[in-house]
Amino acid sequence: MKTEYHSIRRCTLVLLAAVTLLLSGCSENGADAVVYNKNCASCHGRDGQGLRALYPPLPESDYLDKRISELPCLISGGIRGTIVTGNKTKNIRMPAFANLTSEEMSTLINYLQHRWGKGGATVSEQTVAQWLRSCP
Ligand code: HEC
Repeated sequence: MKTEYHSIRRCTLVLLAAVTLLLSGCSENGADAVVYNKNCASCHGRDGQGLRALYPPLPESDYLDKRISELPCLISGGIRGTIVTGNKTKNIRMPAFANLTSEEMSTLINYLQHRWGKGGATVSEQTVAQWLRSCP
């Protein structure tokens, strides 16, 4: 009887720990996704899949990898003319997001990079602010 009680209690504890871990993992991810879901998902999709020939899928973008330092300026300035990424040339307008703070921008950049890029090192808010100051 006694051992049964103990094993039930241990089981409950393990379960509680698992739920806590799960919840904390989810909310962290959720907070990071807010800026993206609010500003970008309408075109590029919640899963970054894009929309046919209109909006490019983000996992294929050079800006999430080799050209990460150009990404804040691309987002804050939007895209008017033609852009060339990889071996594709596109010419559709993307709106400017000049109103994002550097904190929101760095959250966004890191979210994009970790979710769909090659997962490079986390970029600090200061670095993002510096990149933003040298936009063309
Ligand atoms: C109104 C639709 C729209 C919204 C909203 C939008 N984009 Fe775009 N985005 C585009 C279009 C269209 C292009 C391709 C531009 C072209 O063809 O010249 C693009 C291109 C890009 C690219 C380059 C893709 C490549 O092929 O290398 C990135 C990265 C990107 N967007 C990120 C974002 C992020 C981050 C946000 C949110 C802050 C965002 N976009 C919001 C429409 C949108």
